[in-house]
Amino acid sequence: MDNGISPAKKQKVANGANNDSKSEKNSYLKVQKDPENSVSIFFSLPEKVGALAQILKIFEERQVNLHHIESRPSKQSSTEFEFFVSCDNKTGGLKEALEQVKGIAKTFRVLSRKAGEYPSEDTERENTAPWFPKKICELDRFANQILSYGSELDADHPGFTDPVYRARRKELADIAFHYKHGQEIPRVKYTEEEINTWRTIYNELTKLYSTHACKQFNHVFPLLQDNCGYNADNIPQLEDVSRFLQDCTGFRLRPVAGLLSSRDFLSGLAFRVFHSTQYIRHSSRPMYTPEPDVCHELLGHVPLFADPAFAQFSQEIGLATLGAPDDYVKKLATCYWFTVEFGLCKQGSDMKAYGAGLLSSFGELQYCLTDAAEKKTFDPAVTCEQEYPITKYQPLYFVADSFEKAKEKMRDYAKTIPRPFSVRYNPYTQSVEVIENKNQIINLTHAIKGDLTLLEDALSKVGGM
Ligand SMILES: [Fe+2]
Repeated sequence: MDNGISPAKKQKVANGANNDSKSEKNSYLKVQKDPENSVSIFFSLPEKVGALAQILKIFEERQVNLHHIESRPSKQSSTEFEFFVSCDNKTGGLKEALEQVKGIAKTFRVLSRKAGEYPSEDTERENTAPWFPKKICELDRFANQILSYGSELDADHPGFTDPVYRARRKELADIAFHYKHGQEIPRVKYTEEEINTWRTIYNELTKLYSTHACKQFNHVFPLLQDNCGYNADNIPQLEDVSRFLQDCTGFRLRPVAGLLSSRDFLSGLAFRVFHSTQYIRHSSRPMYTPEPDVCHELLGHVPLFADPAFAQFSQEIGLATLGAPDDYVKKLATCYWFTVEFGLCKQGSDMKAYGAGLLSSFGELQYCLTDAAEKKTFDPAVTCEQEYPITKYQPLYFVADSFEKAKEKMRDYAKTIPRPFSVRYNPYTQSVEVIENKNQIINLTHAIKGDLTLLEDALSKVGGM
């Protein structure tokens, strides 16, 4: 069976492990390291003598070691102080101590990226947000948090018994493992055998695109042929493609050494970063791959990331995952599956494919538009609950009216995710702004006001008002 597979296919939604970032060279701000055995909490207390001593007494009595403590006057209330405390989660009665602190504090929040452990009740989780990257360079942390690596192939993988193929996989995985944000993606000299595999796939798929792919795909594909070396005899380089995408929509590629968790993979989209494989499937079965490869990424994913509306839609999914509880990340990964991987869309009276799993699969691209597969209208609240097979063609596809409408639906769905803040991507600083207090909302209002003034001015000039 030929199939296009995404990193979401082997979904393992997990909180990222604590790994010290080596990416601080890209930041002018000192980043507080988060030791593996620590939990960070934030709380506020009334400004009165002995208030903090009462809290410290609780930690002492519960035998919880404190790593770090900071205080500042509250921005919310002139009669309160705010505290940030990092404490040891390996010794003492931490859970009980946190319960007691919560009972005394005016506000209380667990900030640890292992936050799911403390506390777990639904009613309390709005105060608990897992760690997520705030700056684009923090995506470097994911490089060593992969779920499988390079030459680790399953026994039924076509390349399992091929030592040359396995060595090649490791060689390319090592490129990704050592890659850091801001660097050029190293170029790969693909072998004649690898190019032959690409050629077989390229020639078969390009026969179908004009009739089966959406118009946005067919608009971009010739541009990739002209600008990025897309042709039957050449496997395009990720660096060239990434530069092209940055010119079109600000999306960029970064190489990935293996499967990421759904949380980590989707959070890249929040920064308009797509984690891409660089190796190619085994030559013995060019029309089959049990995992994403460079054919799936370059032919399936890349063309749509050059479309502004699709890029915005993809980023919405990524932004919705930041700080979301694990069960919601799973729901969003399912939405990603039925859209970015296996989505169909209406175009006039026709239905066309825009999902990468379809556009990189000769068999499923033909099958998906037939009556053999059920179709439903894309609705995130419904789509997110849908089960799906991962080893055969999809029995059901969700159909979007347009990328714009799909984006609006994702935004509405994101509002239902329990998290105590909103997030906004700032393209000037390539960072995610967490909006959770009055001052930040006022600043946001100023930014929107500037855009509205521009809109008013443009309208008056275009319309001759
Ligand atoms: Fe994919």
